[in-house]
Amino acid sequence: MINPSARANKTGAYYFSQKLTEISQLEAQGRTILNLGIGNPDLAPDPKVTTALIEAACQAEAHQYQSYRCTPALRQALSAWYKRNFGVALDYRDEVLPLIGSKEGIMHLSLAFLDPGDEVLIPDPGYPIYANAAVAAGAKAIYYNLTAAKGWLPDVAELESLVSPTTKMLWLNFPGNPTGAVASEADLQALVSFADKHQILLCHDNPYALILNEEPLSILAIKGAMEVAVELNSLSKSHNMPGWRLGMLAGKAAYLDAVAKMKSYSDTGIFRPIQEAAIVALEADEAWYSALQSTYLQRRTLICQLLDELQCSYATTGAGLYLWAAIPPGWQDSFAYSDYLLSTFDLFVAPGSVYGRNGEGYIRVALTQPAEALAQLLRRVQQHELSSLQV
Ligand SMILES: Cc1ncc(COP(=O)(O)O)c(C=O)c1O
Repeated sequence: MINPSARANKTGAYYFSQKLTEISQLEAQGRTILNLGIGNPDLAPDPKVTTALIEAACQAEAHQYQSYRCTPALRQALSAWYKRNFGVALDYRDEVLPLIGSKEGIMHLSLAFLDPGDEVLIPDPGYPIYANAAVAAGAKAIYYNLTAAKGWLPDVAELESLVSPTTKMLWLNFPGNPTGAVASEADLQALVSFADKHQILLCHDNPYALILNEEPLSILAIKGAMEVAVELNSLSKSHNMPGWRLGMLAGKAAYLDAVAKMKSYSDTGIFRPIQEAAIVALEADEAWYSALQSTYLQRRTLICQLLDELQCSYATTGAGLYLWAAIPPGWQDSFAYSDYLLSTFDLFVAPGSVYGRNGEGYIRVALTQPAEALAQLLRRVQQHELSSLQV
């Protein structure tokens, strides 16, 4: 046996990949598990999008390697989508870089900008990939706190106390995973000023911008942001295309060039039919977006009822694909509570501590199952409560 690298040995297995194996084993035993633990949209994209995919796949030239930065038409569509939704003008020639999902962008941004010994400011709780990517690049993850008391938003005074001469990058994500917190323009402006003062690259991860969010915001709309910030976005959640793997990085050309260079050694553009179908998805009209919002709203209402029944407390002020709820008092920790829901109700929700120390005491519930399944689950929980009262 040839040993994996120290880097690979240091990296623990991703919680969700392990848990999904456990869930498959339960299903093999005949249980039907309702998975509200993963932010994996269950709805299909617009049928026009799949038709475009099929038609494009039938073209003889569809199967070749593609340009490293994908087609100008895809970059134009992404740029127009940014203008429409966020009021941000991006030059499609060099301020938009298509990605194989934004997760890939997190890794390549880290490889492009971090040296061993650099420090990266990372939200706790937050999407776990930021820290793994930093460590893979040889840098050190320094966590900043997000807490209920501060609306799950960064405290610039705390960031000032954590910054050092080796701080190189700061990760932000609004609407937040897992908390759903939404930052205002003033919050983002303060963070841009902080990054500018310390010359830190601000990486804003924005995949939930268009889900149950009244005022979608791009950090690139903030004054001065183009000089110090880049933004990741994705079609995974906004267009129900998580398996397609299509994301983007937006920002100043010089920043994107560094990422494109690293990427060119690991991938060779995106499958042409996916690019062509993505253009159709990006051109979706208002009616398509609002139908999606209504579906998520109906699901969110049912999940709120479920959380009430379970005596979990939550705020409905957030946006995005999740409800972030405090577990009832008396439970040892969020893993124990998540295991209890799995064994008692065949329900999987994500334990909050997967997202960091400040996630302890919380669960994250994704809006990614149909209303009928949620209503059935709600009835099961209500009946369970009744039968335990009768005992
Ligand atoms: C905050 C955040 N960033 C990035 C991603 C990855 O998205 P993509 O499918 O574009 O790789 C996710 C996926 O859940 C996420 O929650």
